[in-house]
Amino acid sequence: MDKFLIHGGNQLYGTIKVSGAKNACLPLMAASLLVKGKIVIRNVPNLRDTRTMKKLLEIIGAEVTFENGVMEIDATNANNPEAPYELVKTMRASFYALGPLTARFGRAKISLPGGCAWGPRPVDLHLKGIEKLGGKVTLDEGYINIETDGLKGALLHLDISSVGATGNLLMASVLAEGETVIENAAREPEIVCLIDFLNQMGADIKGRETDVLRINGVSELRPIEFEVIPDRIEAGTYLITAAAVGGDVLVEGLDPSHLKAVTDKMLEAGANIEINENSIRVSSTDQLRATDVTTNIYPGYPTDLQAQWIALMATAKGKCVVTDTVYEDRFTHVPELVRLGIDVKLKGNAATVTGVEKLKGAPVMSTDIRASASMVIAALMAEGRTELHRIYHLDRGYEDLENKLRGIGADIKREKGPEI
Ligand code: UD1
Repeated sequence: MDKFLIHGGNQLYGTIKVSGAKNACLPLMAASLLVKGKIVIRNVPNLRDTRTMKKLLEIIGAEVTFENGVMEIDATNANNPEAPYELVKTMRASFYALGPLTARFGRAKISLPGGCAWGPRPVDLHLKGIEKLGGKVTLDEGYINIETDGLKGALLHLDISSVGATGNLLMASVLAEGETVIENAAREPEIVCLIDFLNQMGADIKGRETDVLRINGVSELRPIEFEVIPDRIEAGTYLITAAAVGGDVLVEGLDPSHLKAVTDKMLEAGANIEINENSIRVSSTDQLRATDVTTNIYPGYPTDLQAQWIALMATAKGKCVVTDTVYEDRFTHVPELVRLGIDVKLKGNAATVTGVEKLKGAPVMSTDIRASASMVIAALMAEGRTELHRIYHLDRGYEDLENKLRGIGADIKREKGPEI
């Protein structure tokens, strides 16, 4: 297992470029199963998760190539509607195969994802929706089996605005007979990207950027070329890193409208930021002010930037509370951040951070993608050396993180370990 060796203290100067959005790309890859012919997706980040999804598509029988950020998927001869445990357990987003496989083959067999590092993460909304569309769902030996004589449009109300369930049900319903309405649908930019992708393929989805989606089933979709949106979570991570460590950094190739909740909070905390059309510049400022954050569904502050905010607040003046209302158990980073000297106390779904003068490097362990990012930020703020173990989590979601950060002056290097 690889690890990072980080020496904190360097200020950061220069430009850092944002990659394509992992969480937008994964559903697009799954949606490619709906079509016969070659789909071309550009701006695909080279990550462990996109490579895992490629493997899954190949198991299903699609032909996939991936080079220089361009993925070509041809599912014409796909013939095996199954997502095995070995892949679903390493990446929950494999569950995105459920909707397209059911739509294309009328049946699917998908491993039940189980829990994850940040709590139970159920899939009941995905399954309830598929049942309403006419799928018969059974569970056998840890696998969900879906059978149907053809999906039919229905009214689907999501009790919780779930990104994954909205995506899956969109992909299931575009080829269903008649009209489907998804109420309380997610409005995250990654869902808007999926809607744009499906509509360009010939789907009929109305209600883009709203929480009510109306889908008129069509009989066939056609292959297209498409570019993935920039990764707002990667961008937000680098904005927070720059504000935490200091210097003068331009984060380039992002969509500032996707990051408004984050930049608003950074401004409230006293960060020095300049918002341009496709980039945001963060430069050194006086000490930040402790600023509360509560995560929420889009356009609220994203749960995927909760851990990073705790790191940012480590040396801010005063005390603040960081609350996660989307994933209430998502705090495995807290005990690791304490090892780096952050004064953070957890009660329920709220972490209270009291600013300290300085952090000190220590050995710490990655627990999930975003938790790991918070440890990189804290390590770059800290005096001395940090060893960050189990960085395979980071490799799932951040393309070329150490080279990007080294490019702006961070002292971070990867020490190779045996493959996992
Ligand atoms: C996606 C993102 C993840 C992000 C999350 C919230 C991907 C691959 N992952 O995850 O990075 O943190 O959105 O923005 O895009 N829920 C249920 N039942 C369900 C489904 C969800 O109760 O069937 C609950 C979850 O437990 C959670 C909330 O709904 O409390 C939101 O989860 P959801 O939006 O589905 O997250 P994911 O799509 O899994």
